Amino acid sequence: MTDRYAIIGHPVAHSKSPEIHAMFARETGQDLTYERLLAPLDGFHQAVEQFRLEGARGANVTVPFKLDAFRYASELTVRARLAGAVNTLRFDADRIVGDNTDGVGLCADLVNNLGVVLSGARILMVGAGGAARGVIGPLLAANPAQLVITNRTYQRAEEVAQQFDGDRRPVAMTLQQLPAQRFDVVVNATSASLSDSLPLIPVSCFDAGSLAYDMMYGIGQTPFLTLASQAGARTADGLGMLVEQAAEAFFVWRGVRPATLPVIKQLRGQRTNT
Ligand code: ATR
Repeated sequence: MTDRYAIIGHPVAHSKSPEIHAMFARETGQDLTYERLLAPLDGFHQAVEQFRLEGARGANVTVPFKLDAFRYASELTVRARLAGAVNTLRFDADRIVGDNTDGVGLCADLVNNLGVVLSGARILMVGAGGAARGVIGPLLAANPAQLVITNRTYQRAEEVAQQFDGDRRPVAMTLQQLPAQRFDVVVNATSASLSDSLPLIPVSCFDAGSLAYDMMYGIGQTPFLTLASQAGARTADGLGMLVEQAAEAFFVWRGVRPATLPVIKQLRGQRTNT
């Protein structure tokens, strides 16, 4: 019997995940289907539970349900616990495993596709919402020299930083502290780009050797990326992360790692054609 998976969100019509997983399945010869499932804003639990009881094997979860999925899972992986959110559910016979592949996806894109050396790097995370928190654990695990979190509302940056303890800890900084700093990698994890606005980070954070990474994708050159390229930095949007987090979810479900570069190329090609 063909195994069923889905992306559950609200909205979900725009999601590229069905296309990505269809390409992965073709490439690896896995027998599966992957649907879009629009859940009502107050109806995540019912929608996902019905899907599971129909015999589905797993689901990806997107905005605004990653916290609901965290609560729904009967077991959490360490990285889901650190992220405080779940984007991947695996339905086993007797348990519902909640995982989070966002951070691993970002790191894979940075390291494998963009050639960034994270070990020893100075990283600036701009934003302190769910998107930022979701990726900090895997970034820290890559052993950067420093991971600074900054945010429009400083208090939230401090709260997120405090959620990580141990030897490797992020440091919270106010926007006013940043002009004295320079970073190898600057990640925009705010939703500012959606409103065509810019987190107020100083241009001096970038130089010609920096990479500016906007976790948003599909909305062209954001004000953040424009600022970074004016400072001579390399820029990247979040399309590679989208495909890499999907590949990690595919591995969680199927135990097989699909090749990601052909899929990224295919999606970029479509974008420039449309
Ligand atoms: P998500 O789950 O997508 O991270 P969120 O939890 O609402 O969503 O967080 C949104 C993030 O984008 C926050 O860091 C927010 O900053 P505040 O904590 O100060 O609200 C940031 N953000 C949104 N719009 C912004 C803007 N125009 N300029 C700077 N930061 C912005």
